Amino acid sequence: MSQITDQTARRRTFAIISHPDAGKTTLTEKLLLYGGAIQLAGSVKARRNQRKATSDWMELEKERGISVTSTVLQFEYKDHVLNLLDTPGHNDFSADTYRTLTAADSAVMLIDNAKGVETQTKKLFAVCRDRGIPIFTFVNKMDHPGRGPLALLTEVEEVLGIASVPVNWPIGQGSDFKGVYDRETKKVHLYSRTAHGATKAELEVLNLDDPRITDVIGADLYQTLLDDIDLLDIAGEGLELEKVARGELTPVFFGSALTNFGVELFLSRFMDIAPAPTVRVADKGPVPAEGPFSGFVFKIQANMDPNHRDRIAFLRVVSGRFEKDMEAAHTRTGKKLRLSRPQRLFAQDRETVEEAYPGDIVGLTNPGAFQLGDTLSSGEIIRFDEVPSFAPEVFSFIRNDDVGRLKHFEKGIQQLCEEGLVDLFWDRRSARREPILGAVGKLQFEVVQHRLRSEYGVESGLEPLGFEVIRWVEGDPVELRSVYWGSNARLVEDDFGNAVVLIMSAWNLQYLEDQNPKLQFFKSRNEL
Ligand code: G4P
Repeated sequence: MSQITDQTARRRTFAIISHPDAGKTTLTEKLLLYGGAIQLAGSVKARRNQRKATSDWMELEKERGISVTSTVLQFEYKDHVLNLLDTPGHNDFSADTYRTLTAADSAVMLIDNAKGVETQTKKLFAVCRDRGIPIFTFVNKMDHPGRGPLALLTEVEEVLGIASVPVNWPIGQGSDFKGVYDRETKKVHLYSRTAHGATKAELEVLNLDDPRITDVIGADLYQTLLDDIDLLDIAGEGLELEKVARGELTPVFFGSALTNFGVELFLSRFMDIAPAPTVRVADKGPVPAEGPFSGFVFKIQANMDPNHRDRIAFLRVVSGRFEKDMEAAHTRTGKKLRLSRPQRLFAQDRETVEEAYPGDIVGLTNPGAFQLGDTLSSGEIIRFDEVPSFAPEVFSFIRNDDVGRLKHFEKGIQQLCEEGLVDLFWDRRSARREPILGAVGKLQFEVVQHRLRSEYGVESGLEPLGFEVIRWVEGDPVELRSVYWGSNARLVEDDFGNAVVLIMSAWNLQYLEDQNPKLQFFKSRNEL
């Protein structure tokens, strides 16, 4: 086997999707604990809090109780290399989350035993399903009283419309939660709690007919377990991995991230059945892992580290071997770029990457060179079209309130736009020089203002516009100029010079389309 094939087969690149509070941070931390990347759980949270203390931008996270940054964590477990993409959980950051999911080969859907399928889970699930990403389910907080496994499986099937197969089965729940039964090995995993789950849980693995089980869980729970196992074996579907790979079937695990119950069992089974990086399709056809280096930029983040003030473009390697200081073609501009100072990030720490393989994420620091969705390739010039752009739904003028800092204002706006946090539009027909921001949710405007203040030292003001619909327009330039848009629509330009109309409502759009049959209206820039 070649080195690239071998290294690719070891990799699992995935994201955890969940509603806030379901336990994503806790599970992440426990995966790192079992992967040996941290010795004592609590450090990821501690780092998170530390970061919050050192940056104003993180203040916003704290105030809102949300996570706006995404980091990529790489760690090893047994023979595997895991790349865990951390996706922000809040509604308003869905565009960023969607883009991050384009870099994942599978997703772990985390569900709270008591709360079941929640709104954000539904949204993220829909993205994964649309992209055909295989989904693994982890039902968390089994140590809390909840709905019970059967009710939850039914909910997953009914609400999300995906078939499910339990890989393991919980023994009791709430304060009676004793462990899980592994359906493949037919063994019972009994755990004992450690202080706050800071270290690995002590585990006893017993055969189902071992008399010691009843000593620990009691005769009633044992009988319930036997009945449940019978029911699953008779009524349940088998674990067909092809269906899992197509995103039609989700393997379900039960556990408690806080107490570590079921975490390692999940991790080791996930390694076995989650897909390794495979072929991605570019404009010139499928790109297998074996071959020259290629990859695409799915995320750009400015000022990640307040001390460095740099911008990092996160690249997902699709094929070949990435090496520090290698040259690759930047296919949008046709230029050759030297990829120096590649970085891997672990929370706030950075280390230089010497080499990377398909599935890995590399942070590139070339200032200003990259846009979201850009492809790099050391072989044939190809272009991946993996990263979608999302049509904004809210709009606002943003004003620089600090005349002396206009340059900083302009730089800040431009860089935050490059990150994909907001889109920029310009009203060329009015005397106003300020940009119009467009975003998927209003919270992004607050983040922009917050970051302008803390990272660029600029005070700004917002003047919200009432538009809700956006269309890119194409047509004869003379005709375009002569259209009367009325007070319910405004013709502007996007940052690339394309004509765009901002419209009050879907009804107004319908009217405009009827009145201007020769113009073509497009929902996104990609469709032009
Ligand atoms: P998130 O990243 O998905 O938002 O969730 P996070 O891990 O921060 O967990 C949210 C809350 O749920 C935390 O409690 C956490 O301790 C708790 N939790 C996570 N997993 C489990 C579990 O398996 N069982 C139980 N019972 N609780 C769990 P908190 O009080 O909000 O925070 P903290 O005081 O623990 O920091």
